[in-house]
Amino acid sequence: MSQKPQSSDDDVDRIIGNLGDDAHRFAGKTVLISGGAGFLGRHFIAVFRRLNAGVLSKPCKIISADNFITGDQTALHGDGTRDPNIVEVWADVSYPLPVREDLHFILHAAGVASPVYYMKYPLETIESAVQGTKNLLELARRNKDLEGFLFFSSSEIYGDPDPKSVPTPETYHGYVSSVGPRACYDESKRLGETITTIYQQQHNVPVTIVRPFNVFGPGMKHNDRRVIPMFTYQALVGQALPVHGDGRQTRTFCYVTDAIAGFLKTLLKGKPGEAYNIGNADNEISMHDLASLYTKLIPGTSLQHIPYPDTYPAGEPQRRCPDLTKAAQHLGYASEVDLQTGLAQFIAWAREQDSYRA
Ligand SMILES: NC(=O)c1ccc[n+]([C@@H]2O[C@H](COP(=O)([O-])OP(=O)(O)OC[C@H]3O[C@@H](n4cnc5c(N)ncnc54)[C@H](O)[C@@H]3O)[C@@H](O)[C@H]2O)c1
Repeated sequence: MSQKPQSSDDDVDRIIGNLGDDAHRFAGKTVLISGGAGFLGRHFIAVFRRLNAGVLSKPCKIISADNFITGDQTALHGDGTRDPNIVEVWADVSYPLPVREDLHFILHAAGVASPVYYMKYPLETIESAVQGTKNLLELARRNKDLEGFLFFSSSEIYGDPDPKSVPTPETYHGYVSSVGPRACYDESKRLGETITTIYQQQHNVPVTIVRPFNVFGPGMKHNDRRVIPMFTYQALVGQALPVHGDGRQTRTFCYVTDAIAGFLKTLLKGKPGEAYNIGNADNEISMHDLASLYTKLIPGTSLQHIPYPDTYPAGEPQRRCPDLTKAAQHLGYASEVDLQTGLAQFIAWAREQDSYRA
């Protein structure tokens, strides 16, 4: 089944507008994106494609590396056009990458991001965040003209935070189990952050770390199993929305245009060795209320409270909400898209996808 391109021109223009003059730093540069076939990776590529098509004085070259463990091999060329400056390769970052080009930026976004999939692939999840990070940092170390390395960590490194630490600032150290069912993701992201920081301290690699808080938007696959694509799929095919437990657990959801602009600002303007929360602090909502919102957005939708399924890792955090003060102060980051607007855009996109109708 076909998946149409996830980024509308308006979305891409909004991201580029948000970056302002900083976008020109990519002119003539070479950027390696690991996980380039994933949800976020494909949005980055859409932005770079657009920059090359009319914004930059000299195109940038993009190398997208993915082993397609969860990524979609066909998605990069979903709109049928090719940019000769964008190269897509199969590569597993758990092994050293034979890249011979001079690199200026590295975005390490490869990972297994959805709880259902990281439960299925726990060792691969650890490999991409630990060995994969080390391999890419080794590559970074050999590139003397490197201007930025961005490690994609996660808000999950905070675990189930003490209520007094919600909204959660970067200084909160986390409350995480090392042996629980989420540990393969949470702990490997934590170690990925440690390794990243050491390369900055010992080898002066210009690293920054981003901790995304639940990004959503067009491009998420119907079988991604994260809550928004899952609810959307179930609602569009007329099935009741499964709300785990009492549904009082909260998340904040950040629309992808805000998030991608925030990630690129972190890469371009973040202080070396520092971590930044990126998300939307205004959109905190319980899973029960999120499902109820769907009953209004997609008439005829119902919801059903169910016990946690075996395929879903237990011990999920009760609240998740970022403190974005640091990102605002250091990067000039601010989210713009409220939940209802973002959901309406996502649902409109999903309605156009064959996969969301099957
Ligand atoms: N999207 C979010 O809300 C969110 C939140 C927190 C953290 N993150 C992190 O951001 C990154 C990107 O997230 P996403 O939403 O695009 O995830 P995604 O699952 O859609 O994409 C990740 C991509 O990485 C690829 N991959 C996995 N292991 C690999 C390996 N060893 N070598 C090469 N490629 C590999 C997958 O095939 C996939 O295409 C991930 O590291 C994720 O953990 C995302």
